[in-house]
Amino acid sequence: MAYYFEEPSRTFGEYLLVPGYSSAQCVPTAVSLKTPLVRFRKGEEQCPIEMNIPMVSAIMQSVSGDKLAIALAKQGGVSFIYGSQSVEDEADMVRRVKQYKKGFVTSDSNLPPTATLADVLELKNETGHSTVAITDDGTAHGKLLGIVASRDYRLSRMPMDLSVKEFMTPLERLITAPASTNLHDCNDIIWDNKINSLPLVDDEGRLQYMVFRKDYDSHKENVNELLDENKSYVVGAGINTRDYETRVPALVEAGVDVLCIDSSEGYSEWQERTISWIRANYGDRVKVGAGNVVDREGFLFLAKAGADFVKIGIGGGSICITRETKGIGRGQATAVIEVAKARDDYFKQTGIYVPICSDGGIVHDYHITLALAMGADFVMLGRYFARFDESPTAKLRINGNYVKEYWGEGSNRARNWQRYDLGGAQKLSFEEGVDSYVPYAGTLAEGVQTTLYKVRSTMCNCGALSIEELQEKARLTVVSSTSIVEGGSHDVILRNNNQTN
Ligand code: IMP
Repeated sequence: MAYYFEEPSRTFGEYLLVPGYSSAQCVPTAVSLKTPLVRFRKGEEQCPIEMNIPMVSAIMQSVSGDKLAIALAKQGGVSFIYGSQSVEDEADMVRRVKQYKKGFVTSDSNLPPTATLADVLELKNETGHSTVAITDDGTAHGKLLGIVASRDYRLSRMPMDLSVKEFMTPLERLITAPASTNLHDCNDIIWDNKINSLPLVDDEGRLQYMVFRKDYDSHKENVNELLDENKSYVVGAGINTRDYETRVPALVEAGVDVLCIDSSEGYSEWQERTISWIRANYGDRVKVGAGNVVDREGFLFLAKAGADFVKIGIGGGSICITRETKGIGRGQATAVIEVAKARDDYFKQTGIYVPICSDGGIVHDYHITLALAMGADFVMLGRYFARFDESPTAKLRINGNYVKEYWGEGSNRARNWQRYDLGGAQKLSFEEGVDSYVPYAGTLAEGVQTTLYKVRSTMCNCGALSIEELQEKARLTVVSSTSIVEGGSHDVILRNNNQTN
């Protein structure tokens, strides 16, 4: 006879934290958000990879490219570069993160000399950057011909079809430096010459990097940045259970720090086989997370198979329609609570702590605090990160509002059928994700800092200065639907939209 769970499965929106005593020492700036990423013998050794913030970005085409990975590592978290691309392209993205030199920017605003003022404005709108490199082939590493900055054009006086050649600052009037110049010297050149950007070129005049005056202070500001022992940013990458024999070696060779099997349902022999292959070929040197699971049995299966962390969540993602199409899944809060208990039991029995990640379904910032309080070591977010400048998708203007594109890995747009393991390489004939827009939200740095300030504040209200302390002290309550209404503004006329709420 079928098994029935006694309790309905619940989501984050059905819970609140009940505050506890907070001492005068308990202030947001004193809170540490350090958290383990991979398995370790807790109490006996240090976790081999610890993050400075409990956030990782989703293994998705519309979220985790190299640019977002760098921005997130600067804040102390880890991106998992999407695996639904060729092995070479994914390894190149990892390599770009590992080889990223702080302060040296690979230009993302480039045009060929045939471009017009209209093209410059369109690109500026897309990237948000006002400096455009003009190269012979319009790429980031073409031969540098000139630079267009805002001071080079006057919209009221110049026709839109004017060629960039007419108004760019040409190479012969630009100050450039050899690609080998160190950051300190670059900044001196910028200050001495009162310029805003310095292009670095190789011996053949090909653009390599740009150094910007506006970045000068930001190199010093990233107190939380997550670096490996060679001072490169830490980065993760998604793999699947089919081509791991070629994908894993390429990613390892590119310098990846941690892998994660990307699958909608992880309680499977396919995942066990993938982890076994990695252990047989690399021992414990290569770290690999697995998932997704939503219960105790799924967690224990992957922990015993050797997963370095286990990801939780089926059907809760903002773009996910798995529950509607297949009728599988579980409320995210219930899944996290049950898996956290299994993780603690496994630790008591074996001395091995396997971190768990709550993946998907974070709608409000406080959901992150709830997930941590319920036992998650960190959270994975897709929609949240897709909104920022650094995500790899286009920024568009719709009905007067800026939005960014965001689509599921199981949508026809991504066609990532490898994350649905049913054996063989057959394509699914139905989608498990949608193609959508999310409101544009500016830079990742500002967004993450605001979010985590809220998380830290709530932790203080619960008397917790660390995630571990939050998990010990948190008191959670299920809220009724009427108290959810009470929790928003109500019975007032809001000034900005004249609505009664
Ligand atoms: P979000 O943060 O709520 O947007 O959820 C992101 C998570 O949704 C990802 O980390 C994946 O686990 C999951 N996901 C990504 N693409 C799909 C899809 O097409 N269908 C179902 N789930 C997806």
